[in-house]
Amino acid sequence: MIRRYRIGEPINTDSVVEQIKITTGEIPGWRKNQETRSLTFQLNDSDVVYGLGESIRGMNKRGWIYESNNSDDPIHTEDKHSLYASQNFLLVTSPERSVAVYIDTPGRVCFDIGYTAPSEMSITFDDFDADIYVIDGESRLDTVRQFRKLIGRSYIPPKWAFGYGQSRWSYMSVEEVRNVVNTYRSEEIPIDSVYLDIDYMDHYKDFTIDEDRFPDFADFTKEMKDDGVHLVPIIDAGVKIEDGYDVCEEGVEKDYFCKKENGKNLVAAVWPGKVYFPDFLNADVRKWFGNKYDFLLSKGIDGFWNDMNEPAIFYTEDHLSEVFEKIDTYKGRNLDIRSFFEFKDLVGAIDNNPEDYRRFYHDCNGQKVRHDKVHNIFGYNMTRAAGDAFRRLCPNKRILMFSRASYVGMHRYGGVWTGDNKSWWSHMLVSLKQQPALNMCGFMYSGSDIGGFTGDCTEDLMMRWLELAMFIPLYRNHSAEGTRRQELYCFGHQDWFRNIVQLRYALIPYIYGEFMKALLSDDMYMMPLSFVYADDKRAIEIEDQVLVGESVMVAPVYLQNSTGRSVYLPEDMKLVRFRSFDDYDEEVLVAGDHYIECALNETIVFVRKGHVMPLCAPAKCVNELDYSTIKYICFDAEPSEYELYNDDGLESITI
Ligand code: GLC
Repeated sequence: MIRRYRIGEPINTDSVVEQIKITTGEIPGWRKNQETRSLTFQLNDSDVVYGLGESIRGMNKRGWIYESNNSDDPIHTEDKHSLYASQNFLLVTSPERSVAVYIDTPGRVCFDIGYTAPSEMSITFDDFDADIYVIDGESRLDTVRQFRKLIGRSYIPPKWAFGYGQSRWSYMSVEEVRNVVNTYRSEEIPIDSVYLDIDYMDHYKDFTIDEDRFPDFADFTKEMKDDGVHLVPIIDAGVKIEDGYDVCEEGVEKDYFCKKENGKNLVAAVWPGKVYFPDFLNADVRKWFGNKYDFLLSKGIDGFWNDMNEPAIFYTEDHLSEVFEKIDTYKGRNLDIRSFFEFKDLVGAIDNNPEDYRRFYHDCNGQKVRHDKVHNIFGYNMTRAAGDAFRRLCPNKRILMFSRASYVGMHRYGGVWTGDNKSWWSHMLVSLKQQPALNMCGFMYSGSDIGGFTGDCTEDLMMRWLELAMFIPLYRNHSAEGTRRQELYCFGHQDWFRNIVQLRYALIPYIYGEFMKALLSDDMYMMPLSFVYADDKRAIEIEDQVLVGESVMVAPVYLQNSTGRSVYLPEDMKLVRFRSFDDYDEEVLVAGDHYIECALNETIVFVRKGHVMPLCAPAKCVNELDYSTIKYICFDAEPSEYELYNDDGLESITI
């Protein structure tokens, strides 16, 4: 049962698809305080609070303050409050209840989940304008399903997007991309996609190609596709300001860029230098920008990633001149401890400065709205522009699309990746914990940069991360400029890497099938253990084991130099220890605690009691997987029933 309450006059986010009539009066269970602009909810000791999609810390969100404030912050440490996304869904669960709340408002919201008062959850708003959906369910899964139905069916990627993707900021030329692909092919490590980061463009201009380094782009796209490899270019939110650049000139002419109070276009700076931001909150602008993707679609491209769409701002022209003026006032002064830090922060706090998000405006259905009031739906609307355009331009085809910034509602147009993580062991575990929370909020196609984006990746980290991400939908190795190369062939044990990636491909019938079944029925693909073992106190507290689909539990090794780990089995399960797709042992283990050995080159998978996991022969790319080779690993000696979902993976589905 879902009830909708309204506070103030919220701006419509289009995040829900079902119209629920507004219930007037108090929100049962919540204390409203107009003065502090907050809502408070009492937590019981046994309550576990899930949700908030892409965020830091644990699956159980109790004990910290989280903030919905889409942020381009590459330091994802525990002391932070926001990442790139705002997914304001919280699910409070205990053996007695499964109640959820969805806070639909596009501005900044703070969630104090037992941080200030351990038994209270307080939600504080910058603007006390929101639609509040309160959902009561019979179980955790039932509550999530109701929410997912409310927000509409999730985006479906093409099947090839479940294969291995190789990315790097940046592959600089056709020769470099060819070399990457050829090396994967000659090492017989499967691969389905290579990502083109900002340097494929002409001076970082969206919808352009550097003709010197990437000549005859359509031919090159075809050459790659003939070898089973999809090129996936990046698109950034800012449009370079340059005379003669058609996207910039058209946008200026049509008045499609975000404006300052004085009516002039905001000038910000990102990768291309000075840019304008398209006003994605305006439907005409979305249509115009969306149509631009055709520049690449018509060259055979069938996948994109949308970036810097919080939006990230290195500086604005106005703020920069204020900073220079201010710096002048420090000249010749004796800087004491306070003024020194003020001085340092002038430059240090120049990027993504909160002041800058109050300097520009949007045209939301004819209403002039200051950016900070709708900040969290900017990236969503950039991706919506693309998603709507794909439906218009290639209605029957699935196009890969994932975004860095997001808000609930965007899940209907694309997936997400979780931004600039680090080559840290702790980030590997976070990437697993984020998956169930993202699924709750409708983001089914998602993943993190495998191996870590910044920092230097070691061979053992890469291997363990590939094993940990074995069932995560987006399976992409991405790294930053200046870091150690982390293409798999750059490390020593290529046979081990081959075995791990081949195993991923062997498991695609299960991964894709379970993903699609969950997606089409508004279910979870990756779940905390408590979703199934709801009365098991131990299972409820587990943060490093996750259920995947109906048959599998994963319990990956995530500590450096570990050759195994402790695993808790809430029921009897079959341990499958893979050294490769066709070299594995199976062992039935009884419920309870176990120490499981797991060498660096081994992937451990647990098949649940009474369940079945299909496995096929690997291939060099997803399209070449041969389902006639499927065999089944069964918990029981006698095979049990298993419904294997499959489709062509390319045509869009309209059910
Ligand atoms: C941002 C993205 C990262 C990308 C880089 C250059 O930091 O998050 O993935 O490689 O920009 O485009």
